[in-house]
Amino acid sequence: MNVRAEVNGPRLLQSVADFAAIGATPAGGVNRQALTAEDRAARRLLAERALARGFSVFQDEAANLFLRREGRNTALPPLLIGSHLDSQPTGGRFDGALGTLSAFEALEALADAGIETDRAIEVVAFTNEEGSRFSPGCMGSMAFAGAGNIADWHGSAATDGALLADELAATLQALPEAKLRPIGHAISAFVELHIEQGPILEREDVPIGVVTAVQGTKWLEVVFSGEAAHAGTTPLEFRKDPMAAAAAAIARIQDGVMPADPDARLTVGRIAAEPGAINVIPNRVSFTIDFRHPDAAALAAIEQRVREECKVSGARWDCEPTILSRANMAPARFAPSVIGAIEGACQALGLRNRRIISGAFHDALFVSKASPSAMIFVPCRKGISHNEAEFVADDHIVLGAQVLLRVAQRLST
Ligand code: GLV
Ligand code: MN
Ligand code: MN
Repeated sequence: MNVRAEVNGPRLLQSVADFAAIGATPAGGVNRQALTAEDRAARRLLAERALARGFSVFQDEAANLFLRREGRNTALPPLLIGSHLDSQPTGGRFDGALGTLSAFEALEALADAGIETDRAIEVVAFTNEEGSRFSPGCMGSMAFAGAGNIADWHGSAATDGALLADELAATLQALPEAKLRPIGHAISAFVELHIEQGPILEREDVPIGVVTAVQGTKWLEVVFSGEAAHAGTTPLEFRKDPMAAAAAAIARIQDGVMPADPDARLTVGRIAAEPGAINVIPNRVSFTIDFRHPDAAALAAIEQRVREECKVSGARWDCEPTILSRANMAPARFAPSVIGAIEGACQALGLRNRRIISGAFHDALFVSKASPSAMIFVPCRKGISHNEAEFVADDHIVLGAQVLLRVAQRLST
């Protein structure tokens, strides 16, 4: 009766290596951006492995991919476990892939042990979690949880010019074995395993983080419009220079926001100038701002400050700013029932653990708005992530998967 499934550590480590080869970069990382040929290849490999194990494979209109191991009672909503397979352009091999592959290992471990669960368990790979190719991030989980409509983003253009609608259609067509199902089916709960992407667990030598909340994130795109003019002949008083306005705004925002609040995070990650010639004052400069805070009111105050600083710097250079919202992710608190199941699994396995708040956003942030959810974190070296040097020790990979397997068994039986 008390049969326990066991994680097959070597199989999981091999699987992490197999997927890291898809979109591998020379520096040891991964470039498998959302809805690219590499992303499709990873989805195909996972789907083929699932079909070979007798699991069924589905996708929805957002190209979220589901691998289902049936339970005794097919009428019960399934337990959902998983994460994402897309990466940053210079991403690591673990961000997203580790949670998806650990979830798949849990399914395989249950099948190996011949354990039937009451409710089905589904592994998910959500579409475009990263948001670096198409904004916003977490598009797939947002659409799944009813927090957005995928059709509203069909017109989004990728950083490489591709259209979301085309790339979604091509991705869906690339996996005809996956039955199309309506988006947003009912689930009993969602558990996502992920690397911490920060330094806390490693510093405290704790192998498992039990994530209780996710801080909020907003993305803005600021566009300063000026007037293209000759770099050599245009005196100061004639210049409408959007680059000078952008540089001043960025400096004012960086000097003003984080030094005033240790919980705030603010990043300008992308800047573009047009026409982009060395001897032409640009006519247009755009840059992105990613800012985060655990408190929704503080997040709103940062946005207000950003808007004011852009106005001041724009006025100084006679360049009107336009500020576009690219993502808006309110902070989330996870469900005590799922947090408790993760802590219970750690206790049963004798694993040190601590509660932690996620500084990164995750698919679980959106799923938690619709269904009870929580996350399991494992440490990564020096807290480095969104970097090809991202690294997770083998024993932490296996321990994380053991916790996930135990939680999955508990929540499905
Ligand atoms: C997720 O990739 C994030 O930027 O937090
Ligand atoms: Mn991730
Ligand atoms: Mn990421």
